[in-house]
Amino acid sequence: MSGKRLDGRVIAEEIRRSLAVEVNYLKVNFGIIPGLAVVLVGDNPASLSYVDAKTKACKKLGIKSLQLNFDEDISTASLIDEIEHLNKNRDIHGILVQLPLPDQQEDEVINRILPSKDVDGLHSMNLGKLMRGEEGFLPCTPYGILKILSNSNIEVSGKHAVVVGRSSLVGRPIANLLSQKMGIGNATVTLCHTGTTDIGRFTRQADILIVATGQPESITCDMVKEGAVVIDVGVNRISDSSRERGWRLVGDVDYNSVRNKVDAITPVPNGVGPMTITMLLSNVVRAAKNNVAVC
Ligand code: GUN
Repeated sequence: MSGKRLDGRVIAEEIRRSLAVEVNYLKVNFGIIPGLAVVLVGDNPASLSYVDAKTKACKKLGIKSLQLNFDEDISTASLIDEIEHLNKNRDIHGILVQLPLPDQQEDEVINRILPSKDVDGLHSMNLGKLMRGEEGFLPCTPYGILKILSNSNIEVSGKHAVVVGRSSLVGRPIANLLSQKMGIGNATVTLCHTGTTDIGRFTRQADILIVATGQPESITCDMVKEGAVVIDVGVNRISDSSRERGWRLVGDVDYNSVRNKVDAITPVPNGVGPMTITMLLSNVVRAAKNNVAVC
């Protein structure tokens, strides 16, 4: 028997439909069109395709998007100047700097975005609020994972959640959120990382397993517990000569073998990916709505 496929596109579509209503409401009643600035430095192909997908999703929803591309050797100071301009631009409600940056100081750049425009939820202020359980912008992938769990009626409270990967984009925030008493959470959380010896010893104990390592298909069937729920954040290109384009996308989990053992699992593609973009759109709409409140 194979586990339920947690299709992120279906959940994302439902959320996007209600966001479209909000976008229209802002336009009709306040003449406000939510605006997102996406900053891309260099020409990393994966980043380019993520940024394209974000821009397209904005357009489809009626969000204005402004894409700013900079050479990979732009200085940190110049990049910060650009951020300051965007901070002052009243038509821009949200700013996203696509990561990783080639060589610039990521934390310095991110921390110059106004926290009220930090729709990526990565500014120290928003991450601090997340830690304290205060309302702020949540990073989009962890936020998307919470939505997948709640929309799929997956019980989290009292469960053992094991997170593999300690990035500040995904692993650390989701581990923190799932451990909190409020909202979706109240789980017992284990965070595994590159310093963990014998990761399988921990992943085999997971009722909910969240994997964000960037290591293609590295979580195998023998590493998961029967009946677990698996959320695969990885998006990896591997070569595949049977495809005309010569590659295919796989997650960090070996989907085909793991699926037969678990209760539910997100596919790659079409699992977490569409949810990340959707929660970005949701944060942009919220930032625009906050703007109405302070007018
Ligand atoms: N690179 C990969 N995922 C993300 C994300 O969610 N936000 C940003 N800014 N960069 C990323």
